[in-house]
Amino acid sequence: MQDLNSLAIELNKQIQNATPVVSALLSKLGKRVYLPRGILSQTAEANAKAYRFNATRAIALEDRDMMHLAVSREFVPALPLESIYGYAPVLGQPELRDAWKMHLIKENPSLAKTALSLPIVTSGMTHGFSLLAELFTDSGDTLILPDKIWGNYRLIFQTKAGANIQTYPFFNASNGFNTLGFHEALADATDEKLLVLLNFPHNPTGYAITATEAQHIVDAIVARADAGCSILVMIDDAYAGLWYDASVMRESLFGLLAGCHPNVVPVKIDGATKEEYAWGLRVGFMSFGLGAAAMQPLEQKLSGLIRANTSGASQISQTLILEAMKAPGHADQKQHNYETLKARALKTKEITSDARYAKLWEVYPSHAGYFMCLSLKSGNAEVVRQQLLEEHGIGTIALSETELRVAYSCLAESDIETVFEVIARVIDRL
Ligand SMILES: Cc1ncc(COP(=O)(O)O)c(C=O)c1O
Repeated sequence: MQDLNSLAIELNKQIQNATPVVSALLSKLGKRVYLPRGILSQTAEANAKAYRFNATRAIALEDRDMMHLAVSREFVPALPLESIYGYAPVLGQPELRDAWKMHLIKENPSLAKTALSLPIVTSGMTHGFSLLAELFTDSGDTLILPDKIWGNYRLIFQTKAGANIQTYPFFNASNGFNTLGFHEALADATDEKLLVLLNFPHNPTGYAITATEAQHIVDAIVARADAGCSILVMIDDAYAGLWYDASVMRESLFGLLAGCHPNVVPVKIDGATKEEYAWGLRVGFMSFGLGAAAMQPLEQKLSGLIRANTSGASQISQTLILEAMKAPGHADQKQHNYETLKARALKTKEITSDARYAKLWEVYPSHAGYFMCLSLKSGNAEVVRQQLLEEHGIGTIALSETELRVAYSCLAESDIETVFEVIARVIDRL
């Protein structure tokens, strides 16, 4: 059994002092659970204080308001009442599930040749991971993750489900994805059952893999599967499609994993969240690289789990995503947002890799998504973050003592130079 986190201990003490009866009633999970400090609390601080630029949030802004697809909003007054207020089917609206499957096949040529389930609609991607944790994770099961991750994986799989997380360094010595470290982590885990989670484009660095790296990842998984291990490979494709660099693979790793080995079950978790610029609509999808015979009972299991927690994703949210995907202006509006984000990504790369900053930071390679990360050569990232916020009204995220994440998705292209000039000044004066 995992040790209680110090934040959970503190909450338990407060509950015990305020209402001993609640304390007596808490489940084991109730005692373990807490809200980690980190991105959420730093974002909340920045929301209050970053009056100039807030580059903390995993969203995209345009003209200081939410970037969005106008087609996903304009239909609202004309929608039939059933499509707003009616219950959606537990696994999601059938037409939306079909439309998302078509979208996946179009964007991932490798999927044309493999088994691909009908996507299951979840209440955002987080819900999809939670369902996978419930369906596939027992306490003590091993989950292999890199050392740089979206922190919610820990809360879902470790704190909630009790998984034993084994990590490997995300980058190798030449700042590529550490395929060797990944291979070794798999080989070192001698369990008969393994959970693996991979995320490209990557949060927090913005790294995307090359086709060669993708093949090495698949080879490592197949080698372990060949040795008799059953492996669930979860592919977090939150930022799918937002690739800005010609050198990286422009489709999901999931396409290479589907059908790669009978002992490997690949599952793709993606969503309208980032791809359709609809963060708060809470529409995610979960698709398995499995055929109909496996999916029929698995869908029943997942229906049971969904029924027992959210009971289904929001009807109006699903309707809005579907109507937007069918609207004539959809592709053009998505392209517009993509071009806007790409221009910001390229500008960020140009500015941050300028020789004048070389003594201050190293820039982790970033080719895609919303973020980039600076690895500071001196100073403490949390001190830098606080000074940026308190003295300059700029919100960033301190990921560790030396790493600062900047969401350029929230910055206008014309502000990027200023933001990094200020960051450089703060580090320089420490
Ligand atoms: C890598 C990654 N996966 C998943 C999510 C969560 O998606 P959702 O808001 O749909 O739960 C995020 C959100 O920031 C993310 O960065």
